[in-house]
Amino acid sequence: MDRAKELGILKALLHYNETGTTAMAEAPWENAVSAYMCPDRHRLEEEKLIRGRPVVMGMSCDWPENGSYRTDDFTGVPILIVRGRDGRLRAFLNVCRHRGAKVTEGCGKARSFRCPYHAWVYADDGALRAVPEQHAFEGALDGRQGLTPLPLAEKYGMVWVLPTPAADGSCDLDIDPWLCGLEADLKFWKLDTYHFHSRHAHYEDMNYKLLVDTFLEGYHFGFLHADTLRGVLKPHMNHFETFGPNSRTTYARAKLDRLPSTPEAEWSLMWNSTIVTQMFANTVFSPQGDHMEIYRCFPVEGRPDRSVMEMSLYIPKPAATADEKRHWDANMDLALNVITTEDFPASRTMQIGFGSGAQQSIVFGRNEPALIHYHQSIRRALGLPVEGEPVRAAAE
Ligand code: FES
Ligand SMILES: [Fe+2]
Repeated sequence: MDRAKELGILKALLHYNETGTTAMAEAPWENAVSAYMCPDRHRLEEEKLIRGRPVVMGMSCDWPENGSYRTDDFTGVPILIVRGRDGRLRAFLNVCRHRGAKVTEGCGKARSFRCPYHAWVYADDGALRAVPEQHAFEGALDGRQGLTPLPLAEKYGMVWVLPTPAADGSCDLDIDPWLCGLEADLKFWKLDTYHFHSRHAHYEDMNYKLLVDTFLEGYHFGFLHADTLRGVLKPHMNHFETFGPNSRTTYARAKLDRLPSTPEAEWSLMWNSTIVTQMFANTVFSPQGDHMEIYRCFPVEGRPDRSVMEMSLYIPKPAATADEKRHWDANMDLALNVITTEDFPASRTMQIGFGSGAQQSIVFGRNEPALIHYHQSIRRALGLPVEGEPVRAAAE
């Protein structure tokens, strides 16, 4: 994105505002309810969407210093990400090369990692450094010289890991081909200048895609959020653009009404909108006025009806006073409150409804283009025909 693009989106939003319209897909589209329920389909998604593609693991500031490390189990495999003493960020399977125990838990700062079981020690570059009673393993350590690396990319202030080891053991990941043009947006936000503020994991009894779906349309704003988002976001009005399977939905804030009376040189997309960047297939990155939010959505326990959403909040400079901390905490609480007490209870009833036999498909309207794009992209990535399941034919 550049200044011309920023102004272009704002002008499109002003046009929608004046004409009472919104971005539209070419036609409505039906999505089979089996997409949210079928165990076979779910296994395929875990393999191809969650562990077969780069997953956003956080922002560079989540590993602020050499030695900063974080573990992450959400993809279904244990991952350790550590910034080495050389400043380079590396990812490994958090699996001891002795008998497979987790080498470390949680997050913190370390120069090396000692497996709690029999104290094998790994350096911050993953190399095996010490084995108690090493003579007992004579001849057995060849090929076990360190933790198994995972491909990692740190670029534009963001971090991705491919949760499956590369066949050649490579730890490099070229992320641009996966972003399909989103690079300019990510550059525009200068994410490498942000600081981590807080993080929360919320567990749900529904398919992980329903968590993502929550963010992808503003059709419901004026109804489900009639009390909480009134005066904050304009209902049923958004700009929409695709980047391969990724997409950007830009919702106008109520203050957009004041924009025409402001000099164009002062127009700011960040301050007049809430942006939802759907980073295929399970992450929502959201520039929000004065801060950044990342929502990562994962299946839990291999089940199509269990999920977790991890929300992280990043801020332009660290909270220096109690007041500043309260301000950012309030931002986090407000977002979590609306999502978990308004959106998710409604979505939970959808998961129950899917299994009721009421219908074999749900329908996305032309006014829900991001949902159509997301679910068609999933079908494409799974190698399924994009036009959808032959639900009607099967029912007849
Ligand atoms: S399993 Fe890690 S040292 Fe034995
Ligand atoms: Fe919502």
